[in-house]
Amino acid sequence: MNRNIAVDGPAGAGKSTVAKQVAKKLGLVYVDTGAMYRAMGIYFLRLGLSSEDEAGITKACSSAEVSIAYENGAQQVYLNGENVTGSLREEAVGNMASCSSVYPAVRRKMTELQQALAAKTAVIMDGRDIGTVVLPDAALKIYLTASVEERARRRYVELQEKGQSCPYEEIKKDIRERDQRDMNRETAPLRQAEDAVLVDATELSIDQVVERIFLLYQERMK
Ligand code: DC
Repeated sequence: MNRNIAVDGPAGAGKSTVAKQVAKKLGLVYVDTGAMYRAMGIYFLRLGLSSEDEAGITKACSSAEVSIAYENGAQQVYLNGENVTGSLREEAVGNMASCSSVYPAVRRKMTELQQALAAKTAVIMDGRDIGTVVLPDAALKIYLTASVEERARRRYVELQEKGQSCPYEEIKKDIRERDQRDMNRETAPLRQAEDAVLVDATELSIDQVVERIFLLYQERMK
């Protein structure tokens, strides 16, 4: 049996924070697949493409090379050889990633890259379609979610801590829109895999979620 863990769920549920800590505890490599879609988003934005231009985006896929590396244990994302990690979290990049990830050409490219990574080493990978499409044979699948209000609240606090302010209602609206797109696209929509364990983090701390996944994994690996 492989040792991989798949973590899927909507934006802002805490997937990456949790997955990073679980990776450390279990000696797995953490792979943030949203960061890869975001790197593709940067490329499309730089080309001045509209998120509605499927033909342009599909064509651009062939000249975009996304790769990842680890520096001091932290994932670094490279776009055509340039480290773009510092720009990945910008709102415009997140929106372009969410919009362009509906296109099959983008998904095909990212899925191949993610599967190649998991073939090399044991991973905990987070995203939207990891348990359903990318790693259907993962040893453990988690569907991590939380209420829209709680996810918006966490994002609001995170932005405030960075000295960037954005009205709470606007963040909530953005999260709702992203959920709609991620869950309703035709190719690889966000949904809970049949064999995934649902973890609702609305009233759980990060530590509690990490502990729950840790125990589930130990149980699976017996
Ligand atoms: O997890 P994130 O917010 O960094 O992801 C950005 C966007 O990328 C998200 O709105 C949808 C897309 N994405 C995806 O379609 N499939 C994945 N496995 C990961 C992310």
